[in-house]
Amino acid sequence: MRYLYSTFFLSFVIMVSGCKHEPFLGTDYSINDVVEITDICDEDTVYFQNTILPILISNCSTSGCHDVESAEDGVVLVDYGTVMSTGEVEAFDPNDSEIYEVITEDEDDDDFMPPSPNLPLTDEQVDLIYTWINQGALNNSCASSCDENVFTFALGVQPIINLRCKGCHSGGEPAADLALINYEDVQSLSLDGILMDVLLHGEGDFADMPPSGGQISDCEIQVIQNWIDAGALDN
Ligand code: HEC
Repeated sequence: MRYLYSTFFLSFVIMVSGCKHEPFLGTDYSINDVVEITDICDEDTVYFQNTILPILISNCSTSGCHDVESAEDGVVLVDYGTVMSTGEVEAFDPNDSEIYEVITEDEDDDDFMPPSPNLPLTDEQVDLIYTWINQGALNNSCASSCDENVFTFALGVQPIINLRCKGCHSGGEPAADLALINYEDVQSLSLDGILMDVLLHGEGDFADMPPSGGQISDCEIQVIQNWIDAGALDN
C-alpha cells in the first residue's frame, strides 16, 4: 500500500510539474483522471472527491460562473483536471495557488470569490482547501466517510445538504428561489418526493441535482432515503 502510494505520488508530481504554466486551452480537462481510493478515511487527510470537489461544485461551478458552459475567466471547476489546471493549483503550495488566493482575498477586493451576493466560503471550507493543497493536491477519495446507518437530520442529512446543495441554495439569490439551509427547508422538499427525484438523476420530472459533477454518492442518497423512510424527523 505504502509502495503504491509513493508510486502514485511520484507520478503525480512529475505530471503536475510537466503541466505547470501551460495555458488552459479549453478542450483537454484531464490531468489525471485516476482517483486514488482508500477504504478507510484517514481523519487527518482531506480528500478531493469526498470533500473538495463538492465544495467547489456547490459554490463555484454554478451556472454563469465556473461550469463548463460559462467558464468565467477561463476557469472551470467541475472535476480534478479542471480544478488543477484552470484553478492553477500548485501542489503543496496553497499560497501560490490561484484557487486559494481568491477565496482568501480581502472581501472588498474585486478578485474575491465567490462574488456577492453569493456567500463566502466558511472558514472551515477555506481551511479544508488549504490542507488539501498542502497535502499535495491529490486526486484522492476514501470510501467510508459516509455511513448509511447514521441518518438523523443533524448527523446524516444536514452535513450532506451543506456540502452538496447549500452553496447554490443559500445567500441573497438562492438558485431556483429555493433556500436549503434549515430543517424546514429540507423537510418540505422531502414531503412530495421532490428531494429524491432531484437526487436520482434521470428519473422523475424535476431537474437533476447537483446540476453538474454527477449524482451524489449512493451512500449519501441512502442516508437521505433512510431519513425520509423514518419520517423525516427533526432529530
Ligand atoms: C451548482 C449549483 C447547484 C447545486 C450544487 C445544487 N443546485 Fe439545485 N438548483 C440549481 C439551479 C440553477 C436550479 C434551477 C434549475 C432548473 O430549474 O433547471 C436548481 C433547482 C433545484 C430544485 C428545483 C428543481 C425543479 O425542477 O424545479 C431543487 C428541488 C433543487 N435544486 C435541490 C437541490 C439539492 C437537493 C441539491 C443538493 C443535492 C442541489 N439542488 C444542488 C443549482 C444548484
